Amino acid sequence: MPMIHYILKDGSIRSVEAKIGSSVMENAVRSNIRGIDAECGGSCSCATCHIYVDDAFINRLQPPDDMENELLDGVASARLTSSRLSCQITVTADLDGLTVRVPEAQS
Ligand code: FES
Repeated sequence: MPMIHYILKDGSIRSVEAKIGSSVMENAVRSNIRGIDAECGGSCSCATCHIYVDDAFINRLQPPDDMENELLDGVASARLTSSRLSCQITVTADLDGLTVRVPEAQS
């Protein structure tokens, strides 16, 4: 199974085995990754699953659609070029080793 590395607010790293076809957010919630709130449960309407994707992986992802883009404009922490909503990233074998950083705040 692909491994996802979550860099937490305190700088520590949690590594989680992720199911192919699940979302980066679902794996975070299942593993109690603090700082990914995911209040809407993954329906792309809350933006509380915001993460920063490591540069090495950003180009392997499909770009955000209009809805995700709009929500990213309103995230609580700064929007960066690496900002994504973790519920909109589907785990594939190609994403093994994906590293994401949890932002300071989600709301
Ligand atoms: S969980 Fe709500 S937008 Fe991702």
